[in-house]
This record gives sequence, C-alpha cells and structure tokens, in this order.
Amino acid sequence: MFRRIDKNQPKAFEFSKANLSWAKKQILKYPKDRQQSAVIPLLYRAQEQEGWISKPAIEVIAKMLKIAPIRVYEVASFYFMFHLSPVGKKAHIQVCGTTPCMLRGSEKLIEICKQKISKNQKQPSSNGKLSWEEVECIGACSNSPVIQIGSDYYEDLSEESFSSLLDSLIDGYPEPGSQKKRFSSEPEGFLNSSKIKIEENKNASVELFLESSLLKNTKKVNIRKVK
Ligand code: FES
Repeated sequence: MFRRIDKNQPKAFEFSKANLSWAKKQILKYPKDRQQSAVIPLLYRAQEQEGWISKPAIEVIAKMLKIAPIRVYEVASFYFMFHLSPVGKKAHIQVCGTTPCMLRGSEKLIEICKQKISKNQKQPSSNGKLSWEEVECIGACSNSPVIQIGSDYYEDLSEESFSSLLDSLIDGYPEPGSQKKRFSSEPEGFLNSSKIKIEENKNASVELFLESSLLKNTKKVNIRKVK
C-alpha cells in the first residue's frame, strides 16, 4: 500500500539536544561511506520525540546523513512502524489484524477502537489523546489477540480487558504484557499446575521464568525438571 505524508506539515523540526547527541553517535557507528544506514534509528528517534515523521524531520535527517530527502522518505513510507501523520498524543494503538489474532477476536477490538477512539484509523480521538490502526502480524501470535503501543505489547486481550485498557490509558499507564497474567506463552494456568513437565534446558522462556522475580513472588509454583 502506498502511504502518503500528511498534507499539514509543521514549519520546522529540530532534534532535542539529547536526541541530537544520540543521533550523532548512531551515525558514527557506521563506516564513512555507509552512514546512510543510520536512517532507521534516526527516523525512529524523531518519531519518539514528535509522535510522527514530518517532512521537516525527513529533511533534517537527510541533511545529517548527506543523502537526498527522497531516500529518507522512501524508507519512512515503506515501513509501517513510521507514522506519516499525527497520532494520538498519549498513545497510538496498533491492533494486529492478521489471521491468528483475527481468529481470536481482533475484529472485535477494532470495533471497540472505532467506538471509543475514532471511526477511521489513524484519525486521533476528539480529545487528541488516542489514535489507532490495524497492522499486520507483530510476532506475538501465541498470545493473540495482541496490540502494540510504542514498544509495549498488550497480549491475551478480550473485549472487556481491551475496553478497560483504553479507559485507563486516558490518564494512566496500564501495565503491558499478558492481560491474563501469563508469564510468556505457556499454557494458561501453568503457574498453578502440577501436571506440566518442563524441559528446562530446552526452553529459553522457562529458563527466564526460573530466573525471574515472578517465580520468587509466586506462592504455588510446581516445576518439575526433566532430564
Ligand atoms: S497474528 Fe497477531 S501477532 Fe501474529
């Protein structure tokens, strides 16, 4: 899908002092004749700062990388993670609509977005705080349906949990992760199960789980190691 940059553009863009210094360091990571490769980290930082990628931001990044603005624009317009128009000031909600999430109810989540945020995707809510869009698989299919906000994932959603998540987003910062309190993508109820055998040294998630504070804080955990 061809994506166009927003018609309404700010007059200028400037990296904050801290972001400018970070961006310069990123550029130095690449060999002298390959420094245009820093385009993605710079675009990402510009988006973290402003919420979206504007034309002036593209021009500033192009100048820093000594390439034509079109080269930056073609990257920004290719990757869906870059927003080419303003998004919600508090959060932009990316709802995965690919098959596993769709089969687990993402269409209902999209309906809730339409009712609670705005009828059209990428159109901020009337108070400007939230916006939403449907995206392709974000790689957490085993915990579907899933949404992404910035770099946080909210997984195992239901209509109810998603609806209250949106309400709490207005004034707070709901905790990311499984909304059914799964640790990773283990079977539901695993923490309290005495029947599941875990092959500890063949499973990175289990290893992480064993190291985590969650294990210490969980009263009734029953993990049996299989040799
Ligand atoms: S299909 Fe939704 S995360 Fe993969």
